[in-house]
Amino acid sequence: MKNTEGKKKIYIFDSTLRDGEQSPGFSMNLNEKLRMASQLEKLKVDTIEAGFAVISKDDFESVKSIADKIKDCQIASLARSLPADIDAAYEAVKNAADPLIHVFLATSDIHMKYKLKKTPEEVILQTGEAVRYAKKYCSNVEFSAEDATRSDPAFLLKVFKAAIEAGATVINVPDTVGYAYPAQMTELITYLKNGLDLSHTLVSVHCHNDLGLATANSLAAVAAGADRVECTVNGIGERAGNAALEEIVMNLFTRSDYYNAYTDVDTQNIYNSSKMLTILTGVKVQPNKAIVGKNAFAHEAGIHQHGMLENRNTYEIMTPESVGRIQAEIVLGKHSGKHALEAKIKELGYAPDDGQMIVLFERFKKLADRKKSISDEDIDALARSIFSRHSSDMAYRLIDYKLNSGNIVGNTCQVRLKKFSSETVTGIALGDGPIDAAFSAINNAVKEDFTLLNYSIEAVTGGTDAQGAASVKISFKDSTFKGYGVSMNIFEASIYAYINAINNALAAKTEEVEKRNDER
Ligand code: KIV
Ligand code: ZN
Repeated sequence: MKNTEGKKKIYIFDSTLRDGEQSPGFSMNLNEKLRMASQLEKLKVDTIEAGFAVISKDDFESVKSIADKIKDCQIASLARSLPADIDAAYEAVKNAADPLIHVFLATSDIHMKYKLKKTPEEVILQTGEAVRYAKKYCSNVEFSAEDATRSDPAFLLKVFKAAIEAGATVINVPDTVGYAYPAQMTELITYLKNGLDLSHTLVSVHCHNDLGLATANSLAAVAAGADRVECTVNGIGERAGNAALEEIVMNLFTRSDYYNAYTDVDTQNIYNSSKMLTILTGVKVQPNKAIVGKNAFAHEAGIHQHGMLENRNTYEIMTPESVGRIQAEIVLGKHSGKHALEAKIKELGYAPDDGQMIVLFERFKKLADRKKSISDEDIDALARSIFSRHSSDMAYRLIDYKLNSGNIVGNTCQVRLKKFSSETVTGIALGDGPIDAAFSAINNAVKEDFTLLNYSIEAVTGGTDAQGAASVKISFKDSTFKGYGVSMNIFEASIYAYINAINNALAAKTEEVEKRNDER
């Protein structure tokens, strides 16, 4: 497809909710996945790979819910080249406006011999069978040759021929272990394009970042004629991750002169998509990360600042505005009103509803009374703590707490919590430290056994009046839940985070019970 300037469209296939979500530390519950999928729809990616339907009941449910809800993107489910996987994938995506079944099978000698225990001939046969089977359900079928870049190119060509003859509408070349180098990708894509009949089939690439080359390899493939790139927001994914969506899109945007290509992605939604993912997963991006890192558009050196003041093009190859990072113009303080806060919060990439705005304004006023200068980071941390809340009838709210700690006394804590529209509950506990005492007191008040898996606290800004931002991960009935809290008092921030995680856990368990009852 070409636009009016004769530039070629590059399709963006987003795998944040599949390759990204399956990697350690990035798991999301159904509600979180739906929020991320809506954001990806706003970002205007072409395809959302919503998950791997056959893997578990939860995975199936989330792919299905995304397929039911998102109507402006193609929705894909991954499937091994097996009938049961393909059945599940189709069941999950069949209500999508534009469904895609994505089947894969490994083609490298090492994978065929040790993992699949199949001969190359058997792999060719299984490829054709799997694509034909998927094709009975769905006109859009993608075939991925896992570990393609470590496969014999002549054999790979035969496998892709079988896939195309069976009706594959996309053939995907994964650099599964991040082993390729850009010139190799150029050569491989050129070889495949010359050897295949691609009149009804797109060529896609899927590069991992083990040697830091995922973006470079994907772009080398595009320059050699690939039509589609598989990538993830913030580059999350297995091990060192996948090619970062923001890097792929902004390379094609900034250097469209070289690639002679464009994407349909709304670049101004890049920053809030990145931010949404960090909020949902609790994993931040490094400050120097291209496009979305905190310092990506910051100019510190005097010589650079001087150049920027004279002409922004001296040191700026793309504007922060082009990725939705608006220059801070509104400075907030204790006299600021709700409208100024609302403008700031939108500037930071959030879209609060009325209820969230009321809570945010209350917390902002309290902070403004205690802290002289309120930075964007302060507002961001407050917003994040409110956005990570689950609004549910099960929600507990902190009324007050008393904490005793020191090096000549034991650690004890008493907390009082208000259960939504219900009674006040109290818990008291001793602990090995003040946080241990506080969390045990909350467990006693709620009368459930939550296990703390992870806890961290960091200062939101510099200075002794900085807010503390606490993140916790707990396990409850075989599932894990995250919580986040901020306060100028680090113990209070920790208590907020723990209560937030508990509310998320109880809400998820209530939803599960309600769903089971509905199914009966
Ligand atoms: O990395 C990989 O090979 C994959 C495939 C399933 C596309 O994720
Ligand atoms: Zn992958």
